[in-house]
Amino acid sequence: MFVARRIPEPGLQSVRDATQADLWEDELPPPRDELLRRVAGKHGILTLLTDRVDDELLDAAGPDLRVVSNYAVGFDNVDVPACTSRRIPVGNTPSVLTETTADLAFALLMAAARRIPEGYDYVRAGQWKTWGPMLLLGPDVHHATLGIVGFGRIGREMARRASGFEMTVLYHDTTQATTEDESELRARYAELDELFAASDFISLHTNLTDETRGMLNGAAFARMKPTAIVINTSRGPVIDHAALHDALRDGAIGGAALDVTDPEPLPPDHPLLSLPNCLVVPHIASASHVTRARMAEMAAANLLHGLRGERLPTPVNPEVYEQK
Ligand code: DGY
Repeated sequence: MFVARRIPEPGLQSVRDATQADLWEDELPPPRDELLRRVAGKHGILTLLTDRVDDELLDAAGPDLRVVSNYAVGFDNVDVPACTSRRIPVGNTPSVLTETTADLAFALLMAAARRIPEGYDYVRAGQWKTWGPMLLLGPDVHHATLGIVGFGRIGREMARRASGFEMTVLYHDTTQATTEDESELRARYAELDELFAASDFISLHTNLTDETRGMLNGAAFARMKPTAIVINTSRGPVIDHAALHDALRDGAIGGAALDVTDPEPLPPDHPLLSLPNCLVVPHIASASHVTRARMAEMAAANLLHGLRGERLPTPVNPEVYEQK
């Protein structure tokens, strides 16, 4: 079996104990041709969100491939229908990273609002001469309105955090939450137009799909408050980055805090990085010790179940088990 990167030990060890693992040891992902070469003849593959799993890779792996285990909750790097049509189950790592990801989304919200990266740079650059009444002012977080786009597990955890700050929470999703959930989470459903127009902070928690790709475009930014701050911990391509750049530069919105970008990694000379109101961190929302270890255990469990021909604990295409 092929493991496309070193993952935290508990998971990696259980894979090693159970089977012979061909591990890609580099910090960087395997180049495409190397990946295609290494998966040949393998029964199982443990992939990361940086590895594209498509017909080309499945062909390269060959007919013995029994499982693709993705070390992430998101699986937009995997062509799931292609796997399903070959009856290959795909596993992901849901739930274990929900709260850790919401923590980071809220941290980004706070950091952008209260201008923490700018303050940090200011002190380090020796510019701090005195206490200043006008220095690094930003919007309040408490009692502000938060718009959550995508009200799944992580979006809902974001709502819980917001209620501690007595924020008004609006949410949008393809389906509306139950009245009980809405009242427990103190959140109200809103159409996107209303959510964009009314929110001081807009936090994205959607999957990347054909419908959500480029969802935050020039027209969306034009509907937002000029002070609005956009937070993205979902997937980079949900935001049209050229439009985001223009909106931030021209003051159509107040700021952005991004854990995910398009492309990823964002090149150091990318225009977004020249803007003081754009905070970017390197896709670290799930990066706590405990969460990454749990993700490794889960990805290993999916891989090993698949190798044994057993149902994966968390399959994203359970329909493979219904096919005759
Ligand atoms: C995921 O799991 O999809 C995150 O983006 C990385 O943890």
